[in-house]
Amino acid sequence: MTARLEGKTIGITGAASGMGLAFAHRFAEEGANVLIVDLDPQAAEAAAKSIIAAGGRAAWAQANVTERDQVRAAIQVAVSEFGRIDVWFNNAGLNRPLGFLDVTEENWSAILDVNALGTLIGTQEAAKQFRQQDGLGKVVNTASISGRVGDANTAAYCAAKSAVISLTQSGAKALAEDDITVNAFAPGVVATPLWEKLDEDLMAIGASRVPGEAMKNFSAGILRGRVAEAEDIVGTALFLASQDSDYMTGQVIMIDGGMVLV
Ligand SMILES: NC(=O)c1ccc[n+]([C@@H]2O[C@H](COP(=O)([O-])OP(=O)(O)OC[C@H]3O[C@@H](n4cnc5c(N)ncnc54)[C@H](O)[C@@H]3O)[C@@H](O)[C@H]2O)c1
Repeated sequence: MTARLEGKTIGITGAASGMGLAFAHRFAEEGANVLIVDLDPQAAEAAAKSIIAAGGRAAWAQANVTERDQVRAAIQVAVSEFGRIDVWFNNAGLNRPLGFLDVTEENWSAILDVNALGTLIGTQEAAKQFRQQDGLGKVVNTASISGRVGDANTAAYCAAKSAVISLTQSGAKALAEDDITVNAFAPGVVATPLWEKLDEDLMAIGASRVPGEAMKNFSAGILRGRVAEAEDIVGTALFLASQDSDYMTGQVIMIDGGMVLV
């Protein structure tokens, strides 16, 4: 069987951990050149090295997705290493729960900046690079069930992920004539370092009492009967990165075990 991403170059933000790291490994196994982009340079370098050690092709760049110059420079790392980019994943994310009445301007801005502004900047800068190349360009955004339903303790995150869904639609309309597709996927509860921190933070604000309780409560309605591992999301990300999704744009795939039915 031929590799599904042979020769494609794929940049992934937030790829030093969690889902992004799982995507990066699988994409490299499928023949892609992978650019690991992350705020944490040590973790980004370690991620790229682990892919290379496994026989894949990878490079890394430190970038804060809210800083346009850094995102632009990261894209140029992929261009100088691999000649072009074909797919750009806006995957970096951040959540800091607070009760609805306690949400501060600082909390709002930090969460909206990384999740929503980061997605806008990443899409714009990737699109500028795609325009200089031939062929189809793909943008894939990490949304969330939180973009589909509100939540009392993560209002800013829910608003930010709604913005990601909205940017997916606007980007698809704006960039269609450039042969650029923009799609998203929306995970539910995924056992990554993000959720470990969320579990601690929800305890700290009194929304749960013991470790693991918040995750358990949050996951009670998952039709598939368990939380996801990052590996459960990889197939959907691979589909969106591959030519199998070429005819799709402006769409959001729910990959949440049947947690939120919309
Ligand atoms: N874990 C879940 O249950 C879940 C569910 C739905 C959606 N998501 C979304 O999935 C994405 C990946 O999350 P994860 O669970 O793998 O989290 P994670 O915490 O394991 O990984 C997130 C990565 O993003 C990086 N990052 C954070 N802020 C950044 C910034 N400003 N610039 C560049 N990199 C930055 C971190 O350093 C980290 O490596 C996020 O967008 C998150 O909101 C997660």
